[in-house]
Amino acid sequence: MSRVRLGAIGAGWWATSNHFPLFAARDDVELVGVCGLGPGLEGIRERFGFGFATESAEALLDADLDAVVISTPHDLHHPLAAMALDRGLHVLCEKPMTLRADDAWDLAARAERAGTVFLVPYGWNYKAFTVAAKRMLAAGRIGEIQYALCHMASPTRGLFGSDPTHMLERWNSDTAPDPSTWSSPEHGGGYAHGQVTHSSALLFWLTDLRAATVAGRVLNAGAPVDLFDAGVIRFDNGALGSLSGAATLADGDKYQVDIRLFGTEGVLMIDVERERVTLSRYDGEREEVAITPGDGEYECLVPPARFIELITGASTENNSDVTVAARSVELIEALLRSAAADGAETRVHA
Ligand SMILES: NC(=O)c1ccc[n+]([C@@H]2O[C@H](COP(=O)([O-])OP(=O)(O)OC[C@H]3O[C@@H](n4cnc5c(N)ncnc54)[C@H](O)[C@@H]3O)[C@@H](O)[C@H]2O)c1
Repeated sequence: MSRVRLGAIGAGWWATSNHFPLFAARDDVELVGVCGLGPGLEGIRERFGFGFATESAEALLDADLDAVVISTPHDLHHPLAAMALDRGLHVLCEKPMTLRADDAWDLAARAERAGTVFLVPYGWNYKAFTVAAKRMLAAGRIGEIQYALCHMASPTRGLFGSDPTHMLERWNSDTAPDPSTWSSPEHGGGYAHGQVTHSSALLFWLTDLRAATVAGRVLNAGAPVDLFDAGVIRFDNGALGSLSGAATLADGDKYQVDIRLFGTEGVLMIDVERERVTLSRYDGEREEVAITPGDGEYECLVPPARFIELITGASTENNSDVTVAARSVELIEALLRSAAADGAETRVHA
Protein backbone atom coordinates (compact mmCIF):
# COMPACT_ATOMS: atom_id res chain seq x y z
CA MET A 1 0.00 0.00 0.00
CA SER A 2 1.61 3.28 -1.05
CA ARG A 3 -0.58 5.71 0.90
CA VAL A 4 -3.26 4.90 3.46
CA ARG A 5 -6.53 6.37 2.22
CA LEU A 6 -8.01 7.83 5.40
CA GLY A 7 -11.45 9.21 6.21
CA ALA A 8 -12.41 11.01 9.43
CA ILE A 9 -15.74 11.12 11.26
CA GLY A 10 -15.84 13.81 13.94
CA ALA A 11 -13.92 17.03 13.38
CA GLY A 12 -14.16 18.79 16.73
CA TRP A 13 -11.66 19.89 19.38
CA TRP A 14 -9.66 16.68 19.64
CA ALA A 15 -9.61 15.64 15.99
CA THR A 16 -8.51 19.09 14.80
CA SER A 17 -5.94 19.66 17.55
CA ASN A 18 -4.38 16.19 17.75
CA HIS A 19 -5.19 13.77 14.94
CA PHE A 20 -5.59 15.88 11.80
CA PRO A 21 -2.26 17.78 12.07
CA LEU A 22 -0.43 14.48 12.64
CA PHE A 23 -2.06 12.71 9.70
CA ALA A 24 -1.77 15.75 7.41
CA ALA A 25 1.99 15.85 8.02
CA ARG A 26 2.52 12.24 6.87
CA ASP A 27 3.53 11.33 3.32
CA ASP A 28 2.03 7.87 3.70
CA VAL A 29 -1.52 9.15 4.38
CA GLU A 30 -4.05 10.58 1.94
CA LEU A 31 -6.84 12.54 3.64
CA VAL A 32 -9.76 11.44 1.49
CA GLY A 33 -12.76 12.91 3.31
CA VAL A 34 -13.99 14.43 6.55
CA CYS A 35 -17.40 14.14 8.19
CA GLY A 36 -18.82 16.37 10.92
CA LEU A 37 -21.75 18.60 11.69
CA GLY A 38 -21.97 22.35 11.52
CA PRO A 39 -20.87 25.29 9.41
CA GLY A 40 -17.11 25.07 10.13
CA LEU A 41 -16.61 21.81 8.25
CA GLU A 42 -15.60 23.23 4.88
CA GLY A 43 -12.90 25.34 6.59
CA ILE A 44 -11.56 22.23 8.32
CA ARG A 45 -11.52 20.33 5.00
CA GLU A 46 -9.49 23.09 3.44
CA ARG A 47 -7.14 23.60 6.38
CA PHE A 48 -6.02 19.96 6.51
CA GLY A 49 -6.40 19.11 2.82
CA PHE A 50 -9.20 16.54 2.92
CA GLY A 51 -10.60 15.69 -0.53
CA PHE A 52 -14.23 16.24 0.42
CA ALA A 53 -16.45 17.16 3.36
CA THR A 54 -19.83 15.70 4.25
CA GLU A 55 -22.35 15.67 7.08
CA SER A 56 -23.22 12.04 6.31
CA ALA A 57 -21.16 9.30 7.97
CA GLU A 58 -22.51 6.78 5.43
CA ALA A 59 -21.33 8.94 2.52
CA LEU A 60 -17.89 9.16 4.11
CA LEU A 61 -17.69 5.41 4.70
CA ASP A 62 -18.86 4.65 1.15
CA ALA A 63 -15.86 6.52 -0.31
CA ASP A 64 -12.83 4.52 -1.42
CA LEU A 65 -11.07 4.24 1.95
CA ASP A 66 -8.58 1.96 3.69
CA ALA A 67 -9.09 3.38 7.17
CA VAL A 68 -11.22 5.69 9.27
CA VAL A 69 -10.64 7.77 12.41
CA ILE A 70 -13.69 8.22 14.64
CA SER A 71 -13.61 11.22 17.01
CA THR A 72 -17.29 11.87 17.65
CA PRO A 73 -19.14 12.02 20.99
CA HIS A 74 -18.83 8.73 22.86
CA ASP A 75 -22.31 7.38 22.19
CA LEU A 76 -21.71 7.35 18.41
CA HIS A 77 -18.49 5.31 18.52
CA HIS A 78 -20.20 1.91 18.45
CA PRO A 79 -22.54 2.35 15.47
CA LEU A 80 -19.90 4.15 13.40
CA ALA A 81 -17.09 1.69 14.19
CA ALA A 82 -19.43 -1.24 13.47
CA MET A 83 -20.27 0.21 10.04
CA ALA A 84 -16.59 0.82 9.30
CA LEU A 85 -15.54 -2.70 10.31
CA ASP A 86 -18.33 -4.25 8.27
CA ARG A 87 -16.86 -2.42 5.26
CA GLY A 88 -13.47 -4.01 6.02
CA LEU A 89 -11.82 -0.78 7.13
CA HIS A 90 -9.01 -0.27 9.62
CA VAL A 91 -10.40 1.77 12.53
CA LEU A 92 -8.90 4.25 14.95
CA CYS A 93 -11.76 4.72 17.42
CA GLU A 94 -11.62 7.30 20.17
CA LYS A 95 -12.02 6.44 23.82
CA PRO A 96 -14.20 5.32 25.46
CA MET A 97 -14.58 2.78 22.64
CA THR A 98 -18.25 2.32 23.62
CA LEU A 99 -20.46 3.07 26.61
CA ARG A 100 -21.74 -0.49 27.01
CA ALA A 101 -19.94 -3.78 27.47
CA ASP A 102 -22.08 -5.69 24.98
CA ASP A 103 -21.30 -3.08 22.32
CA ALA A 104 -17.60 -3.26 23.17
CA TRP A 105 -17.46 -7.04 22.74
CA ASP A 106 -19.60 -6.71 19.61
CA LEU A 107 -16.86 -4.49 18.14
CA ALA A 108 -14.22 -7.00 19.25
CA ALA A 109 -16.07 -9.74 17.32
CA ARG A 110 -16.50 -7.53 14.24
CA ALA A 111 -12.82 -6.51 14.35
CA GLU A 112 -11.80 -10.14 14.47
CA ARG A 113 -14.04 -10.94 11.49
CA ALA A 114 -12.72 -7.95 9.55
CA GLY A 115 -9.10 -8.85 10.36
CA THR A 116 -8.20 -5.16 10.22
CA VAL A 117 -6.28 -2.90 12.59
CA PHE A 118 -8.38 -1.54 15.46
CA LEU A 119 -6.69 0.90 17.81
CA VAL A 120 -8.04 3.14 20.58
CA PRO A 121 -5.63 6.05 21.09
CA TYR A 122 -4.65 5.82 24.76
CA GLY A 123 -1.50 7.97 24.88
CA TRP A 124 0.01 6.60 28.10
CA ASN A 125 0.06 3.06 26.68
CA TYR A 126 2.76 4.19 24.22
CA LYS A 127 5.25 5.86 26.57
CA ALA A 128 8.74 4.34 26.76
CA PHE A 129 8.41 4.02 30.54
CA THR A 130 5.08 2.15 30.44
CA VAL A 131 6.47 -0.15 27.72
CA ALA A 132 9.41 -0.86 30.08
CA ALA A 133 6.96 -1.60 32.91
CA LYS A 134 4.96 -3.90 30.64
CA ARG A 135 8.16 -5.84 29.82
CA MET A 136 8.94 -6.28 33.53
CA LEU A 137 5.44 -7.61 34.17
CA ALA A 138 5.51 -9.91 31.14
CA ALA A 139 8.83 -11.31 32.38
CA GLY A 140 7.09 -12.23 35.65
CA ARG A 141 9.22 -9.89 37.76
CA ILE A 142 6.50 -9.40 40.40
CA GLY A 143 4.99 -12.88 40.09
CA GLU A 144 1.22 -13.18 40.14
CA ILE A 145 -0.65 -9.96 40.87
CA GLN A 146 -2.58 -10.06 44.16
CA TYR A 147 -3.55 -6.40 44.55
CA ALA A 148 -3.82 -3.53 42.05
CA LEU A 149 -4.35 0.15 42.78
CA CYS A 150 -5.43 2.31 39.85
CA HIS A 151 -5.83 6.04 40.45
CA MET A 152 -6.28 8.96 38.07
CA ALA A 153 -6.91 12.69 38.52
CA SER A 154 -7.09 15.37 35.83
CA PRO A 155 -7.21 19.18 35.53
CA THR A 156 -10.66 18.90 33.92
CA ARG A 157 -13.01 20.95 36.10
CA GLY A 158 -13.77 23.14 33.10
CA LEU A 159 -14.04 20.33 30.55
CA PHE A 160 -16.68 18.49 32.58
CA GLY A 161 -18.26 21.81 33.50
CA SER A 162 -18.92 24.54 30.97
CA ASP A 163 -15.54 26.19 30.44
CA PRO A 164 -13.03 24.26 28.31
CA THR A 165 -10.55 27.20 28.17
CA HIS A 166 -7.81 25.32 30.00
CA MET A 167 -8.02 22.32 27.65
CA LEU A 168 -7.91 24.58 24.60
CA GLU A 169 -4.83 26.35 25.96
CA ARG A 170 -3.16 23.09 26.86
CA TRP A 171 -3.58 21.75 23.33
CA ASN A 172 -3.12 25.08 21.62
CA SER A 173 -6.52 24.70 20.00
CA ASP A 174 -9.10 27.21 18.79
CA THR A 175 -11.94 24.68 18.34
CA ALA A 176 -13.94 24.24 21.55
CA PRO A 177 -15.71 20.93 22.15
CA ASP A 178 -19.47 20.85 22.18
CA PRO A 179 -20.13 20.95 25.98
CA SER A 180 -22.58 18.07 25.57
CA THR A 181 -19.75 15.75 24.41
CA TRP A 182 -18.21 15.78 27.89
CA SER A 183 -20.91 16.81 30.32
CA SER A 184 -24.21 15.39 29.19
CA PRO A 185 -25.38 12.05 30.61
CA GLU A 186 -27.08 11.15 27.27
CA HIS A 187 -23.75 11.24 25.41
CA GLY A 188 -21.89 9.33 28.13
CA GLY A 189 -20.20 12.38 29.63
CA GLY A 190 -18.48 12.31 33.01
CA TYR A 191 -15.14 11.40 34.48
CA ALA A 192 -15.46 7.60 34.34
CA HIS A 193 -16.12 7.36 30.59
CA GLY A 194 -14.02 10.43 29.86
CA GLN A 195 -10.85 9.79 31.90
CA VAL A 196 -10.90 6.62 34.03
CA THR A 197 -11.04 4.99 30.62
CA HIS A 198 -7.33 5.96 30.26
CA SER A 199 -6.07 4.63 33.60
CA SER A 200 -8.12 1.42 33.37
CA ALA A 201 -6.95 0.76 29.80
CA LEU A 202 -3.36 1.28 30.95
CA LEU A 203 -3.94 -1.18 33.80
CA PHE A 204 -5.48 -3.83 31.53
CA TRP A 205 -2.78 -3.51 28.86
CA LEU A 206 0.02 -3.67 31.44
CA THR A 207 -1.32 -6.61 33.39
CA ASP A 208 -3.70 -8.67 31.20
CA LEU A 209 -6.02 -8.67 34.24
CA ARG A 210 -9.79 -8.75 33.66
CA ALA A 211 -12.28 -7.41 36.22
CA ALA A 212 -14.86 -9.93 37.48
CA THR A 213 -16.90 -7.75 39.86
CA VAL A 214 -16.94 -4.17 41.05
CA ALA A 215 -18.64 -2.27 43.85
CA GLY A 216 -18.64 1.40 42.92
CA ARG A 217 -19.65 4.84 44.04
CA VAL A 218 -19.65 8.08 42.08
CA LEU A 219 -20.15 11.67 43.10
CA ASN A 220 -21.42 14.42 40.80
CA ALA A 221 -20.89 17.18 43.37
CA GLY A 222 -23.47 19.41 41.68
CA ALA A 223 -22.41 18.62 38.09
CA PRO A 224 -24.74 16.78 35.66
CA VAL A 225 -22.23 13.93 35.39
CA ASP A 226 -19.79 12.13 37.69
CA LEU A 227 -16.68 14.07 38.73
CA PHE A 228 -15.43 11.50 41.27
CA ASP A 229 -15.37 7.72 40.98
CA ALA A 230 -14.36 4.98 43.40
CA GLY A 231 -14.56 1.22 43.14
CA VAL A 232 -13.51 -2.03 44.78
CA ILE A 233 -12.64 -4.61 42.14
CA ARG A 234 -12.29 -8.37 42.14
CA PHE A 235 -10.31 -9.66 39.18
CA ASP A 236 -10.75 -13.01 37.41
CA ASN A 237 -7.48 -14.31 38.90
CA GLY A 238 -8.75 -13.63 42.45
CA ALA A 239 -6.76 -10.42 42.91
CA LEU A 240 -8.29 -7.44 44.69
CA GLY A 241 -8.14 -3.88 43.38
CA SER A 242 -9.13 -0.33 44.07
CA LEU A 243 -10.01 2.26 41.48
CA SER A 244 -10.18 5.98 42.04
CA GLY A 245 -10.75 9.02 39.86
CA ALA A 246 -11.10 12.77 40.39
CA ALA A 247 -11.84 15.42 37.76
CA THR A 248 -10.82 18.44 39.79
CA LEU A 249 -7.08 19.05 39.78
CA ALA A 250 -6.23 22.72 39.48
CA ASP A 251 -5.70 24.01 35.93
CA GLY A 252 -2.06 23.64 34.94
CA ASP A 253 -1.35 20.75 37.30
CA LYS A 254 0.05 17.53 35.94
CA TYR A 255 -2.25 14.58 35.42
CA GLN A 256 -2.03 11.87 38.04
CA VAL A 257 -2.04 8.26 36.93
CA ASP A 258 -0.83 6.00 39.66
CA ILE A 259 -0.78 2.25 39.19
CA ARG A 260 0.65 0.15 42.00
CA LEU A 261 0.82 -3.58 41.51
CA PHE A 262 1.52 -5.96 44.36
CA GLY A 263 2.51 -9.49 43.32
CA THR A 264 3.69 -12.75 44.86
CA GLU A 265 7.34 -11.78 44.16
CA GLY A 266 7.38 -8.01 44.47
CA VAL A 267 5.84 -4.62 43.78
CA LEU A 268 5.80 -2.44 40.65
CA MET A 269 4.82 1.21 40.91
CA ILE A 270 4.05 3.50 37.96
CA ASP A 271 3.47 7.17 38.69
CA VAL A 272 3.16 9.47 35.68
CA GLU A 273 2.94 12.66 37.76
CA ARG A 274 6.24 12.17 39.60
CA GLU A 275 7.61 10.31 36.59
CA ARG A 276 8.83 7.14 38.22
CA VAL A 277 8.59 3.44 37.61
CA THR A 278 10.10 1.31 40.33
CA LEU A 279 10.37 -2.41 40.82
CA SER A 280 10.96 -3.73 44.29
CA ARG A 281 11.31 -7.47 44.64
CA TYR A 282 11.07 -9.46 47.85
CA ASP A 283 14.48 -11.03 47.11
CA GLY A 284 16.00 -7.55 47.51
CA GLU A 285 16.38 -6.72 43.83
CA ARG A 286 15.47 -3.13 42.95
CA GLU A 287 15.15 -1.46 39.58
CA GLU A 288 14.17 2.03 38.54
CA VAL A 289 13.27 2.94 34.96
CA ALA A 290 15.03 6.07 33.69
CA ILE A 291 12.38 8.53 32.48
CA THR A 292 13.10 11.61 30.40
CA PRO A 293 11.85 14.64 32.41
CA GLY A 294 8.44 15.69 31.10
CA ASP A 295 7.67 12.30 29.57
CA GLY A 296 4.92 11.66 32.12
CA GLU A 297 2.83 14.49 30.65
CA TYR A 298 -0.17 13.35 28.66
CA GLU A 299 0.15 13.55 24.91
CA CYS A 300 -1.24 11.38 22.17
CA LEU A 301 1.33 11.65 19.37
CA VAL A 302 2.31 7.99 19.05
CA PRO A 303 -1.10 6.25 18.72
CA PRO A 304 -2.19 7.87 15.42
CA ALA A 305 1.29 7.24 13.98
CA ARG A 306 1.23 3.67 15.25
CA PHE A 307 -2.18 3.15 13.66
CA ILE A 308 -0.71 3.94 10.24
CA GLU A 309 2.41 1.84 10.91
CA LEU A 310 0.26 -1.15 11.86
CA ILE A 311 -1.64 -0.77 8.59
CA THR A 312 1.50 -0.47 6.45
CA GLY A 313 3.26 -3.27 8.36
CA ALA A 314 5.95 -0.96 9.73
CA SER A 315 4.94 -2.01 13.27
CA THR A 316 3.19 -4.96 14.89
CA GLU A 317 2.81 -3.44 18.37
CA ASN A 318 -0.74 -2.40 19.20
CA ASN A 319 -0.72 -1.33 22.88
CA SER A 320 -4.40 -0.42 22.96
CA ASP A 321 -6.31 -2.93 20.91
CA VAL A 322 -10.00 -3.75 20.97
CA THR A 323 -9.63 -6.23 23.87
CA VAL A 324 -7.84 -3.75 26.13
CA ALA A 325 -10.51 -1.15 25.31
CA ALA A 326 -13.37 -3.61 25.89
CA ARG A 327 -12.04 -4.60 29.33
CA SER A 328 -11.98 -0.93 30.25
CA VAL A 329 -15.53 -0.36 28.93
CA GLU A 330 -16.98 -3.34 30.78
CA LEU A 331 -15.42 -2.24 34.07
CA ILE A 332 -16.67 1.34 33.76
CA GLU A 333 -20.16 0.29 32.72
CA ALA A 334 -20.38 -2.08 35.71
CA LEU A 335 -18.97 0.59 38.05
CA LEU A 336 -21.69 3.02 36.97
CA ARG A 337 -24.39 0.34 37.28
CA SER A 338 -23.11 -0.51 40.76
CA ALA A 339 -23.13 3.14 41.79
CA ALA A 340 -26.74 3.44 40.57
CA ALA A 341 -27.59 0.39 42.70
CA ASP A 342 -26.25 2.01 45.87
CA GLY A 343 -22.82 0.43 45.59
CA ALA A 344 -23.94 -3.19 45.22
CA GLU A 345 -21.22 -5.59 44.09
CA THR A 346 -21.88 -6.01 40.36
CA ARG A 347 -20.67 -8.58 37.82
CA VAL A 348 -18.45 -7.12 35.12
CA HIS A 349 -18.81 -9.99 32.67
CA ALA A 350 -20.69 -13.29 32.39
N1 LIG B 1 -7.51 9.93 23.21
C1 LIG B 1 -7.53 11.06 23.85
O1 LIG B 1 -6.60 11.39 24.56
C2 LIG B 1 -8.70 12.00 23.70
C3 LIG B 1 -8.59 13.33 24.11
C4 LIG B 1 -9.70 14.17 23.93
C5 LIG B 1 -10.88 13.67 23.39
N2 LIG B 1 -10.94 12.36 23.03
C6 LIG B 1 -12.19 11.80 22.48
O2 LIG B 1 -12.48 12.39 21.22
C7 LIG B 1 -13.89 12.38 21.01
C8 LIG B 1 -14.35 13.75 20.55
O3 LIG B 1 -14.14 14.68 21.59
P1 LIG B 1 -14.12 16.26 21.26
O4 LIG B 1 -13.80 16.94 22.52
O5 LIG B 1 -13.30 16.52 20.07
O6 LIG B 1 -15.67 16.52 20.91
P2 LIG B 1 -16.30 17.68 20.03
O7 LIG B 1 -17.65 17.93 20.57
O8 LIG B 1 -15.37 18.83 19.91
O9 LIG B 1 -16.37 17.02 18.55
C9 LIG B 1 -17.31 16.05 18.19
C10 LIG B 1 -17.35 15.99 16.67
O10 LIG B 1 -18.28 14.97 16.29
C11 LIG B 1 -19.14 15.50 15.29
N3 LIG B 1 -20.43 14.82 15.30
C12 LIG B 1 -21.39 14.86 16.26
N4 LIG B 1 -22.46 14.12 15.87
C13 LIG B 1 -22.15 13.62 14.65
C14 LIG B 1 -22.86 12.79 13.74
N5 LIG B 1 -24.07 12.35 14.00
N6 LIG B 1 -22.22 12.48 12.56
C15 LIG B 1 -20.98 12.93 12.28
N7 LIG B 1 -20.28 13.71 13.12
C16 LIG B 1 -20.85 14.05 14.29
C17 LIG B 1 -19.27 16.99 15.63
O11 LIG B 1 -19.71 17.72 14.52
C18 LIG B 1 -17.81 17.28 16.01
O12 LIG B 1 -17.04 17.49 14.84
C19 LIG B 1 -14.53 11.92 22.33
O13 LIG B 1 -14.88 10.57 22.24
C20 LIG B 1 -13.41 12.10 23.33
O14 LIG B 1 -13.48 11.21 24.42
C21 LIG B 1 -9.88 11.54 23.17
